[in-house]
Amino acid sequence: MGESSAGAAFAGRRVLALETSCDETAAAVVDDGHVVVSSVVSSQVDLHARYGGVVPEVASRAHTELIVPVVTEALAAAGLDATGRGAGPVDAVAATVGPGLVGALLVGVSAAKSYAMAWGVPFVGVNHLEGHLYASLLEDPELAYPVVVLLVSGGHTLLVRMGGPGRYAVLGRTKDDAAGEAFDKVSRYLGLGYPGGPAIDKAAERGEPDAVAFPRARLPGTFDFSFSGLKTAVVNYVRAHPEVSSEDVAASFQRAVTDALLEKTFEAAEATRAVGLCLAGGVAANSELRRRAAEKGEAAGLRVFLPSRAMCTDNAAMIASAGYFRLRSKGPTALDAGAEPSLGFNEPGSSLSRS
Ligand code: KG4
Ligand code: ZN
Repeated sequence: MGESSAGAAFAGRRVLALETSCDETAAAVVDDGHVVVSSVVSSQVDLHARYGGVVPEVASRAHTELIVPVVTEALAAAGLDATGRGAGPVDAVAATVGPGLVGALLVGVSAAKSYAMAWGVPFVGVNHLEGHLYASLLEDPELAYPVVVLLVSGGHTLLVRMGGPGRYAVLGRTKDDAAGEAFDKVSRYLGLGYPGGPAIDKAAERGEPDAVAFPRARLPGTFDFSFSGLKTAVVNYVRAHPEVSSEDVAASFQRAVTDALLEKTFEAAEATRAVGLCLAGGVAANSELRRRAAEKGEAAGLRVFLPSRAMCTDNAAMIASAGYFRLRSKGPTALDAGAEPSLGFNEPGSSLSRS
């Protein structure tokens, strides 16, 4: 991603951010990187539910229709008019540049650049995964570092050590399926619906987590994860035992996923001498993961930050926060930079890289 003048000091406070990487059209106004002034999220989940997953063309078209109304609503809720003016004008415009669906990303990136040009303020491109890391900071500005962040979403499963805003080291990642992808696939197989995470979470409330002993991939000596074997084990078990209840399978599957996630996260926190632990990404909305993380944190003397469910799933406030800190450390992004659908989060100690 191009930087027009690396290190150019950004002295502004107020960032408008746009997020359109997948199936939510979102805009937010955030001050000083952590004070959420307004945050609007328009979900397309109903549009995609009938197809059992996100349809890229449908997502791009919906973003195109929704982006201006969503931005206008976020500006109005911050006391600003459609020109970004009013009490406390916007100092910079951020947008998610990747990873995500290319057609969807381009809607937000093009709109953000247009606003930035029209208003004569800097544009900053943000890595969607980096955005998720800021969820806890937005809800708890007293956050003490270093923390270990477990970032679990539909497309990614990462363990990141965060030494402060903009200072990251990737400790581990999934070797195959993302945690959210495993929830979505198992839910579809069990006929529980889409999106799968909330459906399994709900079904599991009525099931027995010890009903089926599903395998936990341990990958010793690493902080990596693997979920594809678990997904296959669920399919094989249900085929061999058609009489088993979906609730018991959902609860046992959820227990296996949360066991694997929490074991590595707490090991990583101990090994890197973190003082706290944050959950982030859509799967961090999972009730069992939240409950057990809090319990284990208390037992281990670690502060556990559990962002609200709305902050865990995709939103633009987290993009504004990441954009603010990026502007301060690296300066604006060149206006000729495009969307980066396969942007990764690879290099230890750095924020952005291609996968
Ligand atoms: O972060 P996110 O909103 O979008 C991506 O960037 O992927 O995450 C979406 C993922 C989906 O796989 C969804 O099934 C999962 O988060 N999810 C959950 C729950 N709520 C959403 N997974 C488990 N339990 C939940 N309650
Ligand atoms: Zn996400």
